[in-house]
Amino acid sequence: MGIVADDTKTQDSSQHASHKRVALAEEGIMETLLLPFSPRFIVLTICAVVTALLIGIGIADRKIFDILLVPILIFGALTLLGVRDLLQKSHAVLRNYPISAHIRFLLEEIRPEMRQYFFESEKDGMPFSRDTRAVVYQRAKMELDKRPFGTQEDVYREGYEWMHHSVSPKTHAEEKFRITIGGPDCSKPYSASVFNISAMSFGALSPNAVRALNAGAKKGGFAHDTGEGGVSPYHREMGGDIIWEIGSGYFGCRHLDGTFDPEAFARVACDDQIKMVELKVSQGAKPGHGGVLPAAKVSEEISKIRGVAMGEDCISPASHRAFSTPVGMMQFIAEMRRLSGGKPTGFKLCIGHPWEFLAICKAMLQTGIYPDFIVVDGNEGGTGAAPLEFMDHLGMPMREGVNFVHNALIGINARDRIRIGASGKIATAFDMARAMAIGADYCNSARGFMFSLGCIQSLSCHTDRCPTGVATQDPTRARALYVPLKIDRVHNYHHATLHSLTELIAAAGLEHPQQLRPIHFSQRTSTTQVQSFARLYPELRPGELLEGTEDPRFREAWRMAQTDTFQPAV
Ligand SMILES: Cc1cc2nc3c(=O)[nH]c(=O)nc-3n(C[C@H](O)[C@H](O)[C@H](O)COP(=O)(O)O)c2cc1C
Ligand code: SF4
Repeated sequence: MGIVADDTKTQDSSQHASHKRVALAEEGIMETLLLPFSPRFIVLTICAVVTALLIGIGIADRKIFDILLVPILIFGALTLLGVRDLLQKSHAVLRNYPISAHIRFLLEEIRPEMRQYFFESEKDGMPFSRDTRAVVYQRAKMELDKRPFGTQEDVYREGYEWMHHSVSPKTHAEEKFRITIGGPDCSKPYSASVFNISAMSFGALSPNAVRALNAGAKKGGFAHDTGEGGVSPYHREMGGDIIWEIGSGYFGCRHLDGTFDPEAFARVACDDQIKMVELKVSQGAKPGHGGVLPAAKVSEEISKIRGVAMGEDCISPASHRAFSTPVGMMQFIAEMRRLSGGKPTGFKLCIGHPWEFLAICKAMLQTGIYPDFIVVDGNEGGTGAAPLEFMDHLGMPMREGVNFVHNALIGINARDRIRIGASGKIATAFDMARAMAIGADYCNSARGFMFSLGCIQSLSCHTDRCPTGVATQDPTRARALYVPLKIDRVHNYHHATLHSLTELIAAAGLEHPQQLRPIHFSQRTSTTQVQSFARLYPELRPGELLEGTEDPRFREAWRMAQTDTFQPAV
């Protein structure tokens, strides 16, 4: 009895299971049949149906076929696009949303422009706010650069910073603010403006951009850094003061195997237009990262300027081959100075491991070789292209870097013979004054001068599709940058920024930005607390590192620094 009941039960449940299977199969067939009408595929279905209908009507009534031809072609092309989307494998979203997903890609493409044009407030916009860009454009065009009604800054937010003014401001003169760069070992010191064009290579920038920058520098009496891509004919053509930068690729002064060629270096460096020579150790936006210009982009012109073979990738290695120790680096600096005929010689870096910079300081003491200048780049600095992780999270920001180098040099009693340059989002006089208060003698700007050339921060420098002709090698795009007009803009921007700096300095009761000290600035550290920069950026005593410091920023790193290796002593 129990067995019969069990059999019946088994029969029932297997029948039930088979019904369920049939029902599921039917449901699956229905789903497949309805798939073309689902929201995902409906656009493709409509295009295919409309194309078929139009073709059908056209065949049925040949007289109207000509009229229908254009819509047939449009809907037919869309249908083919949809079929291609379905079959391709690289974009999942296109496989699932044929045709319609292209709208998403289009919107993604124009997102930065949409945000910039419609949604960005005055203080929004990265890396540079709309307000900062606007003030550069206005100064470059000599338009009214004043603002109405009052600040749009929230002066009670944490991190807000201000400069202190004096009850007895000075009357400001049209001061050009120059400083002399060149220590005791330099026989051709350079009188530099406190505001110069930061390193950007021909290759990253278009020929017209280089021409306009260099001629603008000539007109305004300031310096133009070549970047590591070599001295191009566009730098020479205009005759502006040049700082020649060499990086680990030694472009313009290398043997074919990529090693440093002293004779080629001397030939270029002795040219009168070159006022200083600079060794690039690292760059804030991509410290410790080399670079590759793919073979396809190595044009005959670039191959000539850089001294690299055509048809091969043009590589900047991550590290230098000309030296591998702190002492070796100082000896290379001395060699560069000798080969350039005694011109100011320095290096540029973004601070990474503190003991490495202190190792360089110890090497200065050991060899007696001191650079004439050090440019400290912050990790907030710009680049043509770099990996996101490097840009966002590698390297010390400019202010901490400048202050660290400033204090280290005070600590070894070398501050008075070495000038410090700062770069990293410096575009206004306030940016300059702040950097100079915590240790910089002068400032360099890359993107500020790009804005003066007309850069609209479209963030497409790495695609060779720059809309303003600044960062491209495409001649049809570069022609948009009209050099004679932009020369004046570069010059005006420099002039107006320095004018604004003069006013700030005078308002603080000072006469030269070199008198700026941390005590002249404050920062809000919470809604109710304010700290002087003097507390935030305390200064070492002269010679303190030599005497043995207890300052936690330096104590351990100084102990770990060695002159014969960049590795830390453990
Ligand atoms: C397009 C572009 C190219 C650059 N090329 C170089 C270069 O060749 N060598 C270098 O040392 N720095 C290079 N830089 C970095 C700048 O010189 C500067 O250190 C950095 O952008 C910080 O300045 P900024 O914030 O004013 O742009 C480049 C920056 C940009 C935007
Ligand atoms: S306009 Fe865009 S692509 Fe051109 S330099 Fe400026 S950010 Fe780069």
